[in-house]
Amino acid sequence: MQHLIDIASLNSATVMRLFACTDRLRKQMPLRPLEGIAMVNLFYEASTRTRVALELAAKQLGMHVINVQSQVSSVTKGESLADTFHNLCAMGIRLFCLRHPQVGSPHQLVEVAPAGAHIINAGDGVHAHPTQALLDAYTLREALGEVAGKTIVIAGDLRHSRVARSNIALLNMLGAAEVRLAAPPEMQIRPMPPGNLVEFDDFDSAIPGADAIMMLRIQKERISELEIPDNNSYYRRWGLTEDRLSLAGEDCRVLHPGPVNRGVEIASEVLNGPQSLVMQQVYYGVFVRMAVMLEMLVEQPTVEQEC
Ligand code: CP
Repeated sequence: MQHLIDIASLNSATVMRLFACTDRLRKQMPLRPLEGIAMVNLFYEASTRTRVALELAAKQLGMHVINVQSQVSSVTKGESLADTFHNLCAMGIRLFCLRHPQVGSPHQLVEVAPAGAHIINAGDGVHAHPTQALLDAYTLREALGEVAGKTIVIAGDLRHSRVARSNIALLNMLGAAEVRLAAPPEMQIRPMPPGNLVEFDDFDSAIPGADAIMMLRIQKERISELEIPDNNSYYRRWGLTEDRLSLAGEDCRVLHPGPVNRGVEIASEVLNGPQSLVMQQVYYGVFVRMAVMLEMLVEQPTVEQEC
């Protein structure tokens, strides 16, 4: 795998290899197999989980990590993404983790990347967030045994969510029986991607029979203020409360990619409750990203040994 841009960069064999590598990394950490390789977190949008998990993953593998935040870089003086990238390549950076508000930004870098450079998409606009989908699927697999045959609800602001798009693609690749897309009509995903998808405009109807519910926040940074719903009315119709979760039964698991807005899309009692996998998602996210880095930067025969 040269780059990880979206779920189309993967096939099911690669995903299984990444999950097996993640399993092994959780049991035993390799001894700095990527010692001396330089990675940059190139972030043009805010982040806590993804940026820190990528940095931690890279450091656990022995890499040098440099963080570049666009707000305090020469981007503010007018430098383009491509020029920034070329300058960092000239310094010998091998791995670029890019978060950018514009859809397609990682593709732009792939088109001009030198042979030895690798790009991980850490989120581009509403398009894709593949490492989030990988860690979500890994978390589901750990909790449910497997993703194949399961019914998963994704609820909330689907339209503006790259996490939803990457999850839909990966859940379909892994054989989920049904992915239910529950959202207010103005937040429903369009155009509808391919797969075993069922649309719901009423949250309560989407929940019975679900094996897991993935909640999404309202992506306020991608919506005009005029279209942002009132928190209280949104919570009444679209908040995952204990009462709503009880429609699914006590084996149903709850996921959220974060950041969470308590009392808007999810109740604190659900987030902190026994059915929540949210902290497991964060925990596994470091190992999954280590597996991705090893897959990209270690020669194939060695990956098995390093993992
Ligand atoms: N899930 C996620 O992408 O969180 P951050 O925006 O904090 O990285």
